Amino acid sequence: MSMDLKGKSFLTLKDFSRSEIQYLLDLALRLKQKKNSGTRGKLLEGKNIALIFEKPSTRTRCAFTVAAVDEGAHPEYLGVQDIQLGHKESVEDTARVLGRMFDGILFRGFSQSTVEKLSKYSQVPVWNGLTDEYHPTQVLADFLTIMEHKGGLQGQKFVYVGDGRNNMARSLMIGSVKMGLDFTIVAPKELWPLQEWIEECQSYIQEQRNQIIITDQIHTEVLEADIIYTDVWCSMGEEDKAAERIKLLQPYQVNKEMIEATGNEEVIFMHCLPAVKGNEVTTEVFEGKHSVVFDQAENRMHTIKAVLVATLIENLS
Ligand code: CP
Ligand code: NVA
Repeated sequence: MSMDLKGKSFLTLKDFSRSEIQYLLDLALRLKQKKNSGTRGKLLEGKNIALIFEKPSTRTRCAFTVAAVDEGAHPEYLGVQDIQLGHKESVEDTARVLGRMFDGILFRGFSQSTVEKLSKYSQVPVWNGLTDEYHPTQVLADFLTIMEHKGGLQGQKFVYVGDGRNNMARSLMIGSVKMGLDFTIVAPKELWPLQEWIEECQSYIQEQRNQIIITDQIHTEVLEADIIYTDVWCSMGEEDKAAERIKLLQPYQVNKEMIEATGNEEVIFMHCLPAVKGNEVTTEVFEGKHSVVFDQAENRMHTIKAVLVATLIENLS
């Protein structure tokens, strides 16, 4: 399949069609096979990419760095403490400066409006490496992992358990409905996604005939799940909410009983990481045979490489 994504920013999956997302996943698989065969790439030779981090990161930073270097690009890490952004210079001015020097910009931080401004003012592709609202590159890695373990995406029963309002829950809901998975959030009512997010996602469903379920019923709704997914109970920047969240979410911990309640021997356990073992997931499940969390972590790199290649160079057929 051919697809022209050159020059396009990757800010949220809302901006991508089902066939564009599938194209990125298929490209990631090809790039993964290429790397595993020992072939060194030159697809991004001569490109320079800026990596701006307002929040900490292991996977996203390493994935962008290795993906860029693997295909011949130069990545430059710019921690917000090291540059003028947010102290002496506006996002708009920083964007125009970086856009004159770099071929693309990754941003990880708090506000979605920052990645949007970077994209608007820099005139180069900008990639969202997590904001308070979305984490779209993580969803690509998760979907590649599901394809590898389940043979495809369509019709899979995806159950997200935990904080239903955070960036992962929201991004997975968008991605799932676009790609034809049945999507359920199991969360206490206090942490259900906003009604407007659900309605927005429902507008994508009509084409796909899949469904979104939001519930606080744990054991009935995990039945027959193909995927159980969870994330931290306090996202970066929400550390002051820890006591309240533990109280609310303790019954929603992914543990052996929850995995057994799926009734599916082949269910996979997923987590974007980093995990707080003993909170959202037990060590037993995290380390157990259903867990694919490190496949997800590795796939961050292959899928991010696909995003870089697709948005920085001419279409690969
Ligand atoms: N999953 C993820 O984004 O991990 P990092 O915070 O380590 O980048
Ligand atoms: N919801 C988490 C995801 C971390 C990858 C956070 O924002 O901290």
